[in-house]
Amino acid sequence: MNEQTLSMRLERVAAQVPVGARLADIGSDHGYLPVALVRRGVIVAAVAGEVAMTPFRSAERTVRENGLEPWITVRLADGLAAIEPGDGITAVSFCGMGGETIRDILDRDQSRLSGRERLILQPNGGEQPLRLWLMENGYRILGEEVLRENRFDYEIIVAERSGPVLYTAEELYFGPLLLGVRSSAFLGKWQRRLRQKQKTLAGFCRARQAVPEDMVQDLVRQIRWIAELLA
Ligand SMILES: C[S@@+](CC[C@H](N)C(=O)[O-])C[C@H]1O[C@@H](n2cnc3c(N)ncnc32)[C@H](O)[C@@H]1O
Repeated sequence: MNEQTLSMRLERVAAQVPVGARLADIGSDHGYLPVALVRRGVIVAAVAGEVAMTPFRSAERTVRENGLEPWITVRLADGLAAIEPGDGITAVSFCGMGGETIRDILDRDQSRLSGRERLILQPNGGEQPLRLWLMENGYRILGEEVLRENRFDYEIIVAERSGPVLYTAEELYFGPLLLGVRSSAFLGKWQRRLRQKQKTLAGFCRARQAVPEDMVQDLVRQIRWIAELLA
């Protein structure tokens, strides 16, 4: 992967960034996503935000080597602190971080957003708490995708602020749009998850003394939901 040939995961994220957007890519690491999008003429400007020095330097290098300094600003910053009012950001991406981490960043610094930005989220796990945060903060899910690459299942969630929205517990768990479409990638992911969770439950049963009952019941409920989904 590089700024010309993105991974399939980042390629699918890129497809969700509106033409003409001003993108803030939070946790940009190498900066491949904003650099690829500016090179392709999809976006007009970007901020690449990084909290850690080594990836920050890596993003700076990618931007410099592509001669894109006038269009892409790389900032060493924690979460949405990378965004400044004058940036006029219209889309924010978070890719390759845990869903809880993305949620916590959004929650901590929501005041840095105008509320009109499109959020393009690719959490590595923790999709359910992230969707819950979106619902509780008036964001409607407009796009969802599951894809498998290098033996990992990835989800992409696209959301915009719309006012009150209500999802059921199952919709928050599986994804409201994914549940409707039931693509083969989505079903494959949940088949694998079901097997993993059944194995975990069998382990819990063998060590019953040590595992709190509410944890067992939560796992049993998840297994029931997944089995019903796949039935
Ligand atoms: C696994 S990398 C993903 C890089 C790239 N977005 C991708 O998807 O290929 C996650 C990056 O998020 C950065 N990160 C984690 N917490 C952050 C925060 N609070 N603010 C900014 N960046 C953060 C890490 O330093 C790391 O470079």
